[in-house]
Amino acid sequence: MKFKKKILCIGAGYVGGPSMAIIAYKCPDCRITVVDTNPNRIDAWNSEDLPVYEPGLDKIVKKTRGKNLFFAKDIENQIKENDIIFVSVNTPTKTYGAGADMAADLQYWEKTARQIMKHSRSSKIVIEKSTLPVKTALAMEKILASAKGKIKFDVLSNPEFMAEGTAVSDLENPDRVLIGSHETKSGLKARAELIGIYARWVPLEKIITSNIWSSELSKLVANAFLAQRVSSINSISALCEKTDADISEVAKAVGMDSRIGDKFLKAGIGFGGSCFKKDILNLVYLCSYYGLQEVAAYWESVVKINEYQQERFMANILNSMFSTLAGKKICILGFSFKADTGDTRESPAIYISQKLLAEHAEVIISDPKALKNAAIDLAGIKGTVKYIEDPYRAAAGCHALVILTDWDLYQKLDFQKIYSSMVKPAFLFDGRNIIDHKKCFAIGFNVYPIGKPALSHFKN
Ligand code: UDX
Ligand code: UDX
Repeated sequence: MKFKKKILCIGAGYVGGPSMAIIAYKCPDCRITVVDTNPNRIDAWNSEDLPVYEPGLDKIVKKTRGKNLFFAKDIENQIKENDIIFVSVNTPTKTYGAGADMAADLQYWEKTARQIMKHSRSSKIVIEKSTLPVKTALAMEKILASAKGKIKFDVLSNPEFMAEGTAVSDLENPDRVLIGSHETKSGLKARAELIGIYARWVPLEKIITSNIWSSELSKLVANAFLAQRVSSINSISALCEKTDADISEVAKAVGMDSRIGDKFLKAGIGFGGSCFKKDILNLVYLCSYYGLQEVAAYWESVVKINEYQQERFMANILNSMFSTLAGKKICILGFSFKADTGDTRESPAIYISQKLLAEHAEVIISDPKALKNAAIDLAGIKGTVKYIEDPYRAAAGCHALVILTDWDLYQKLDFQKIYSSMVKPAFLFDGRNIIDHKKCFAIGFNVYPIGKPALSHFKN
């Protein structure tokens, strides 16, 4: 079959894989190839056991793989073959040199730009899909512009706003698609080409355009605003715990103001995931770089409150359990950074497990999708950790349950059965406020929610 467009994506991660699968699904007349420097990733995408768990994704991959969606290892050849190249490689926080722990590490990006330049034999549209600091496209353009001969590259910015766990529905029904381009003749032509792809399934009024820098910055700012709401509600949860206020009631009353809205107001143990912290630190670095210290400090406080929330939660466990955890068995329910994903990057569960182990507690971790990653995250840490998928078996013989991920299945557990199998007095720390606290208290648990008074059977 002759395909209308030949599209390549470099980077087969959480963003590259699902977003290309949807394009392939929606545009059967386009051929999409995804490559990655990690050959194991490509093997996994070609297997029955995809490297990324996302509800609904396996069905879409099954329908398209081998027809118009391909996962390949020959990066150089694929660069030659394709006309449109998405770049979705990771941009972790820099761990060395200038801007360490703040700025984005752009080495993979630059390497990819050079690779594209070296192996291209015809003009191409290059699209940044990774979240990048403002003006990265400029650097990419400079590298690509040094290509010899008549080959021209048009660089577009097209940040991805999907969230993990809901990637498929977010990609199928995005709130908006943002495309940043230059206002030059060839920039506008490249932009029209990309609009043409999305317009196959996204209504035109939801496809918005801007200059490249606004597009790059919008992605950082959108993530910073979302994270800021989580830190705002978490900061108030600390106040609720000191007073008789209940964070769920406060969030409901505040969120019903249509100007504020009710989303991202769920108090918990703090945000995780590969994006929020990294993108805010990136924003902080940009602000400091431009001498805007007050603005930098404002956004940095969002990350500080997030750390404070996790420290507070851990201190609460220790204090409530008579200030010693040594030799006690603690069952962690949920290790992924949110429900419906196996991703554990920056998951608060990593910090909390480490702190529990540092107190010499024995930690038993249960999660329906994240145990493999949990074992990688905690490898080499001193102490006893067990991984048991079945929550009933995991909880048996434990002194406390600690809920860290908002998996639906935890709401449906038989807490009476669990209570009977635990050491008494039994403790329950609900880091996500997802279970029925009064019911669990009535069963016999001492219950410690977030931002609500504790329900304890102990007399003061
Ligand atoms: C996310 C977001 O896309 C991005 O916005 C953010 O900047 C970084 O994290 P994600 O898809 O979640 O990316 O990252 P990851 O799952 O780590 O995937 C990146 C892939 O790129 C990896 O599979 C890695 O092997 C690949 N890669 C990295 C290359 O193919 N080439 C490189 O030079 C470097
Ligand atoms: C985020 C953005 O939502 C998405 O647009 C962007 O493309 C990538 O970063 P993601 O990190 O996958 O997506 O998940 P998200 O649903 O935003 O949750 C992030 C973290 O915040 C999770 O740890 C989640 O548990 C936490 N959270 C979210 C809360 O604690 N309370 C809330 O009310 C919402």
